[in-house]
Amino acid sequence: MVHYEELGLVNTRDLFKKAMRGGYAIPAFNFNNMEQLQAIVAASVETKSPVILQVSKGARQYANQTLLQYMAKGAVEVAREMGYAIPIALHLDHGDSFDLAKSCIETGFSSVMIDGSHLPYEENIKLTKRVVEFSHKYNVTVEAELGVLAGVEDDVSSQQSHYTKPEEVEDFVKRTGVDSLAISIGTSHGAFKFKVKRGETPPPLRFDILEEVERRIPGFPIVLHGASSIPQNIVDEINKYGGKLDDTAGISEDQLRRAAKSAVCKINIDSDGRLAMTAAIRKVFYEKPDEFDPRKYLGPARDALRELYKQKIINVLGSDGKA
Ligand code: G3H
Ligand code: 13P
Ligand code: ZN
Repeated sequence: MVHYEELGLVNTRDLFKKAMRGGYAIPAFNFNNMEQLQAIVAASVETKSPVILQVSKGARQYANQTLLQYMAKGAVEVAREMGYAIPIALHLDHGDSFDLAKSCIETGFSSVMIDGSHLPYEENIKLTKRVVEFSHKYNVTVEAELGVLAGVEDDVSSQQSHYTKPEEVEDFVKRTGVDSLAISIGTSHGAFKFKVKRGETPPPLRFDILEEVERRIPGFPIVLHGASSIPQNIVDEINKYGGKLDDTAGISEDQLRRAAKSAVCKINIDSDGRLAMTAAIRKVFYEKPDEFDPRKYLGPARDALRELYKQKIINVLGSDGKA
């Protein structure tokens, strides 16, 4: 057992408490390789923002758990070396079983999500409660989910979203003892969130549901998944340099900023980073077809990611200067 404190990590409890009071949200950026991690740490240190390093089940398999543990420890040390020791949490994204959550906790994760949102309500409660009971023994915080987002996450894909039912949240939180709750108010996973033509605006987020949830569980930390904005200029860049992405749209940054000022304390962003990296790599390959040193294309991709994350921290999360 390697406890997260040995790696210099923190859980999300204090991060969320401060975010709730301060009217901002903590960024949760997914990673599975060194360049992504370097970009997240650099952006967070440069903006003095707390950050959640987020690892999905697939990412954990891809990167290797042992390596991940050292990478997370390295992230803490690198931040310190850069001159500002920001709080860093290591979080399991969309954990789908008790065993996976347990294994993550035993290998240094400070926070886990148990995603029982596809299960019937009582089964979601049972699974979440079991994970909470285990996690809290180690002071690891737990995120659960009520309601289903559309889109694709690992092997689970959902064609249709089901908004969170506000009348369930109080009972769910009380009976599970969970620390934060992801809700479905119209965000969606992946790069193709809405079937829209170029220039069309996707449907707005259901702030009425968020407000009703806040009314029923005041002061309780809420999480938004599927919060990439799918910037049109990045999609255009990818297509300009040989890519072939269909028309698409994401969640507007204005709406996310509004959410971050409310009880939403954590906002998950993955797809925008994937797009930014891809655009930068494609540009190098297009302009310099004779280039074959990975540093020459992964380096620019890392720079593009760092800029994207800084922009998100400042304009979307509002977590700059809060570390
Ligand atoms: O919500 C899912 C995240 O974007 C992680 O995606 O399961 O493909 O690693 P992944
Ligand atoms: P996006 O696909 O919108 O980036 O959402 C990521 C996410 O919710 C990770 O859990
Ligand atoms: Zn998600």
